[in-house]
Amino acid sequence: MARTLRITAPDDWHLHLRDGSLLAAAVGHSAARFRRALVMPNLVPPVTTAGRAAEYRNEILACLPPGSGFDPVMTLYLTDNTTTAMVAEAAGAPHVAGFKLYPAGATTHSDNGVTSIHRVMPALEAMADKGLVLQVHGEVTDDHVDVFDREAVFIDQVLAPLCRELPELRVILEHVTTSDGIGFVQSGGDNIAGTLTAHHLLYCRNDLFRSGIRPHYYCLPVLKRRRHQESLLGAATSGNPSFFLGTDSAPHLRGQKESACGCAGIFTAHAALELYAEIFDGMNALDRLEGFASHFGADFYRVPRNTDEVILEEFAWEVPASYPVPGQPGGDPALSEFVPLRAGETVGWRIRRTDVGDSGEAAVD
Ligand code: DOR
Ligand code: ZN
Repeated sequence: MARTLRITAPDDWHLHLRDGSLLAAAVGHSAARFRRALVMPNLVPPVTTAGRAAEYRNEILACLPPGSGFDPVMTLYLTDNTTTAMVAEAAGAPHVAGFKLYPAGATTHSDNGVTSIHRVMPALEAMADKGLVLQVHGEVTDDHVDVFDREAVFIDQVLAPLCRELPELRVILEHVTTSDGIGFVQSGGDNIAGTLTAHHLLYCRNDLFRSGIRPHYYCLPVLKRRRHQESLLGAATSGNPSFFLGTDSAPHLRGQKESACGCAGIFTAHAALELYAEIFDGMNALDRLEGFASHFGADFYRVPRNTDEVILEEFAWEVPASYPVPGQPGGDPALSEFVPLRAGETVGWRIRRTDVGDSGEAAVD
């Protein structure tokens, strides 16, 4: 008999959903697995105000069938121009959990990001005061710093000093990729946490260059050495509540990935929970998946844990080569689809039954 696992419905605390036709094509994958997701604000133009976040949230909900229980939680894009009044407004807004700090130029759509931490200190002090969460893309952007060292240098030069200066600030180091990041979170208080993606847990930088350059394994922060991957695996499966699930699933049109200058971002939402099940199973730690996927994030964000459940079943299924994006102009096939992780390969677990979204039987059969 296939092994099964019943857990509290999970949440994804780091998700890119985009807008327009890509949003419509992507969001159902997350809604079929997760009850809540923290939706990243790096649209063009970015989501910088509580008012715009409310509109964006409605755009997301409009793409879902009636009765979907998916609950998007919003975060606002921190810029040099974020005022303390904007922070106060965010703190009073329903569905807004915090602000996302993108160092300017660090990643996809980060041009409007923060140019110097000193410029945003008043906003960060106001956030600390209001208990809002700062989600951090933790990489320096200095061209002189090796791309594989940018997380460690950011922690050293920016994040650790910030946390010393504002010890009350609630901070998440997003998509931790190094043992340095793991150590930073482990040594922090209970106001410091880290999210871990499936792709950084599954792969290392060798996979990016396996028999050629593989654009669908390219993300930021970039995949690191195997020893860092092992450190992430240890943290995810340790039962330490400071580490929880955030996929960083990020759809890009195929032609924008398979390009002379391909975009950063890996789409995992089609199999996200299933991939984490594979990871925890591989570590003989399936009994720790529920805490990581369904409890610790809710606790950190101070929202109730979900009350419904999902059932995972060991079952190998093949991931499609691509998913269509209906409604794209131009008719170029490379710009009318996106490529998921493991395209054409198998995933070893599936969701057998989910109450997420009131969908009853088999979201993924
Ligand atoms: O790989 C990434 N893709 N990293 C990010 O920080 C942003 C994301 C995206 O928006 O595509
Ligand atoms: Zn992200």
